[in-house]
Amino acid sequence: AKVWGATALEDMNPDAKIVEVNLAAANYDWDFEGHTVKMFAYNGQLPGPLLQANVGDKIIVHFTNNLEEPTTIHWHGMRIDNEMDGNPRVQDPVQPGETFTYTFDAVEAGSFWYHPHVNSHEQVDRGLQGSIVIHESQPPAYDTERFLIFDDILIDPATGILPGFLKSHGEEMHGRFGNRLLSNGLSRDKLAATAQKGEGERWRIVNTANARTMTFKLDGATFRVIGSDGGLLPQPYTTNYLQVAIGQRYDIEVSYDKAGTVKLLNLIPTATNDGKVKLVEYSALKVEVADSTNEPREVQLPVVAELPAREIDQTVDVELSGQTDAQGHIAWTINGKVNAEEFLFTFKKGSTIKMRLKNLAGPEHPFHLHGQFFTIVDQKTMETSQPGLKDTVLVPGMSTVEIIAFMDNPGRWMAHCHILEHAALGMMSELVVEE
Ligand code: C2O
Ligand code: CU
Repeated sequence: AKVWGATALEDMNPDAKIVEVNLAAANYDWDFEGHTVKMFAYNGQLPGPLLQANVGDKIIVHFTNNLEEPTTIHWHGMRIDNEMDGNPRVQDPVQPGETFTYTFDAVEAGSFWYHPHVNSHEQVDRGLQGSIVIHESQPPAYDTERFLIFDDILIDPATGILPGFLKSHGEEMHGRFGNRLLSNGLSRDKLAATAQKGEGERWRIVNTANARTMTFKLDGATFRVIGSDGGLLPQPYTTNYLQVAIGQRYDIEVSYDKAGTVKLLNLIPTATNDGKVKLVEYSALKVEVADSTNEPREVQLPVVAELPAREIDQTVDVELSGQTDAQGHIAWTINGKVNAEEFLFTFKKGSTIKMRLKNLAGPEHPFHLHGQFFTIVDQKTMETSQPGLKDTVLVPGMSTVEIIAFMDNPGRWMAHCHILEHAALGMMSELVVEE
């Protein structure tokens, strides 16, 4: 299956059930807006190449670290063995010049992504991020499938230099907001595609920014949400605005019922001169739809079972907060701990846990749990509804969001804020799921 928007990694293994690839991280000179920008890249591509497999396959990634600093790779959203998850407290980080082989199974079909878990606020921002598609055994027959990685980057437009990381109070407080939006590594307005009237497409969307929640709308065509972090939904739904928290994925179905220009617009809150905030629309993807005599057809989606109702075994509170020291520096906390060394919780494998995520300080926090899926109970603070299995949820400022987590995958798992500056400044913890 061909996925538009990323170059797929070459599968070197002749066995149809094994995907075996090479991946290397290295310094990378990025040609951007007339400057050579000092970045990092996987296999010399920015964003990194697409890792794709069929559900049930075994995946082997031979990773080489050609950076000048240690790193790991985390396979965001995939429920794999915890030794392969890229947690630097479990796996010794891969040192410069060294290699590591990641081996794991593609247990669930869905849209995922990969990124480092060492010095992440800098490594991810400098370009270490890539897409993962695990195809369903009977994938729906869309005319085109696209992977869309949306990011932003902070860059001095005059020199192409990236300002120092975590050097300002604003960055400690809100995370690093970019001044350039990126669509699949291209600057805004540059990502373009073509299609024909009557066609239907599947777009897999991920927000890989360090700090920016993104809200999209589609002009010129209709869409509905068919998949979430955990794969295809039992019940697709329509919405006007799609809010994508950092790290989250959405699969949407786009139908072209007429010819013309279709634009996916990223709505960016922007301060105006009179001190107000207005939404400025930037094109994240432009599709020129050619006329044809075809009428839109309905694409058959595989039947997806409704999530089983599970009795809640335990309810726990997770308090997201922060403190400021005498010099004005911020430390971010989970249940009062900065970068907690001890485990936040220990649960039994198979238990169903209601977590009350309480945002007690500062801006929003996209909370991410490794290795397990959850559903979101409380959706009244969300702009869009978020059914289905999730691994990341936005907890807006001064509010509480409840999730029900299925602790089915044993191991020790990171639980942290996906604003990477908040994670770097302490909003990072681990929990244990006992066998
Ligand atoms: Cu996408 Cu712990 O990360
Ligand atoms: Cu946060």
